[in-house]
Amino acid sequence: MQTFLSAQERSDQLSRHITQAPQEYRVLSGERPTGALHLGHYFGSIVERLRLQQAGVETFIILADYQVITDRDSMGAVRRNVHSAVLDYLAAGLDPETTTIFTHSAVPALNQLMLPFLSLVSEAELHRNPTVKAERESSGRAMSGLLLTYPVHQAADILFCKANVVPVGKDNLPHVEMTRTIARRFNDRYGALFPEPDALLTAAPHVPGLDGRKMSKSYGNAIALGMSADETADLIRAVRTDSQRHVSFDPERRPGVSALLSTAALCLGREELQVAEEVGASGSGALKRLVTDAVNDFLREHRARRAEFAAQPELVSQILRRGAQRANDEAEQTLAQVRQVMGTLY
Ligand code: TRP
Repeated sequence: MQTFLSAQERSDQLSRHITQAPQEYRVLSGERPTGALHLGHYFGSIVERLRLQQAGVETFIILADYQVITDRDSMGAVRRNVHSAVLDYLAAGLDPETTTIFTHSAVPALNQLMLPFLSLVSEAELHRNPTVKAERESSGRAMSGLLLTYPVHQAADILFCKANVVPVGKDNLPHVEMTRTIARRFNDRYGALFPEPDALLTAAPHVPGLDGRKMSKSYGNAIALGMSADETADLIRAVRTDSQRHVSFDPERRPGVSALLSTAALCLGREELQVAEEVGASGSGALKRLVTDAVNDFLREHRARRAEFAAQPELVSQILRRGAQRANDEAEQTLAQVRQVMGTLY
């Protein structure tokens, strides 16, 4: 298993080469539709996707709906979450003409790839995946068969369209590593068919949740991109700060104040220390007003565009249907090749 540092170096090199030769790359990126997209997604993945789109790289975005039930029983508001994510992609400037947006439940041939892929990994390898282990622990539940095997499913997400670049955060590195292993073993066993995709570690700034923990809808500490300005203000007003009047950046001891500073810094394109200095002794009330304005200004246009797209009744469904069509074409072609080399075309 490669170390994080070498993954970072490789990723930096890759990033440079992608801009030089965009036509050599195909990108697959994705997320689980478990809630509304928030500022963490914006700075963590959407900005990178826009960069790749601008560079002219062909991109697929998967909304991994089956992955929702890896660590919970209910699909929740999956339909709403999928629609909401598409609205955010559009509002952010992702172009569905060049970016294929789809859900994996709508692509049967993609899911079928999971069967031969499962034969290529051992139970021990599945159990060794640190991200799966962490997710099992934080779910507080027994390991489900899907939780244990979803990294193989994710390999199918990536390989069905023969993507060779996968933008991910650190958490997902083990899954890309498993995808490479599966591609290599498949090719060794049946003949060269799949690329061994590289992880593109996004150089995303850390976006803390408003309480200093990881930003997550389930913690109630996330600023959703689609929130109204008033909802944003309410959420920020409720952040727990401390009684110290002077605002300073100290994530360990002052998680609330520091998360507010980080949020403002990101939205204003400045450093935390600068913002802290500006607020100085005016206290956390003033800081909260500054953060609220910074976030609402930063998201104003996004939200206005989002509302325009949301007002077009059939738009999102059309985009998803078209994306599924394209993804199905790709997946069926790949599955036919898989069956060809496996000798299962009768
Ligand atoms: N596991 C990813 C996450 O935690 C979501 C995902 C599903 C994904 N399939 C993918 C990411 C394929 C990259 C490539 O958000």
